[in-house]
Amino acid sequence: MGSAWAVVPAAGTGTRMGGTVNKQLIELSGRPVVEHSLRALLAVPVDGIVLVAPPGEESNFARALKDIISLNRIIIVHGGADRRESVGRGFMALPAGVGLVVVHDGARPLVRPVRVREAMKEARRWGASTLAVPVKDTVKLAGPDKLVQETLPRELLWQVQTPQVFTRELLLEAHRAAARDGYSGTDDASLVERLGHSVKLVPGDYTNIKITTPDDLLLAEKIMGLNPA
Ligand code: CTP
Ligand code: MG
Repeated sequence: MGSAWAVVPAAGTGTRMGGTVNKQLIELSGRPVVEHSLRALLAVPVDGIVLVAPPGEESNFARALKDIISLNRIIIVHGGADRRESVGRGFMALPAGVGLVVVHDGARPLVRPVRVREAMKEARRWGASTLAVPVKDTVKLAGPDKLVQETLPRELLWQVQTPQVFTRELLLEAHRAAARDGYSGTDDASLVERLGHSVKLVPGDYTNIKITTPDDLLLAEKIMGLNPA
């Protein structure tokens, strides 16, 4: 099916993190957050990575990640206004011959390579897959007035993570359709679902958190202490 490359969106502004250092470059166990994400993907292994940095910060990222970049096939491009646009720009930079695309948030440094391999296996079978964990809390649907409209059936609810893995053709078709329709979505799987195509859930780990707010950094340090690399 061709080679497997990763696209790593890391072009967000980290608004919820705040602070002056880009959240992707904050140090976690002595290394930038995004470097842990890249290392996990290289350990899978993938054949190469397109890292999507914020516009104007490409050289900053290249400097912070120079060791890992010098030893591996990592291309840096700049992202867009939303996550979909950033993944789309990363996709365009993939070399010819790529058959499988592993989309993984730069902000998920704790993913385990074994889980990425499982997601890749299911994507080869189904065309699209995503890591996910069963929802632990009861989830309710409410209106803007914060009045509950419905309690959703917890046994059917999954919290999705990344990586999300796709065949190259399917991801291309999904992004083209979403761009044409002005649909942003919050993940790539939803773009594929809009096409009416199946997406296979692959049970992951609760520890694969997304670094979003400052307390996530404390949590990530703790989790890393439990599972030293
Ligand atoms: N992302 C991106 N391009 C954007 C927006 C988001 O590449 N225009 C990436 C982020 O860098 C991150 C992932 O998508 O790796 C998930 O997004 P999120 O955790 O929301 O990160 P930010 O958008 O940076 O944070 P915030 O929403 O708090 O601003
Ligand atoms: Mg965001």
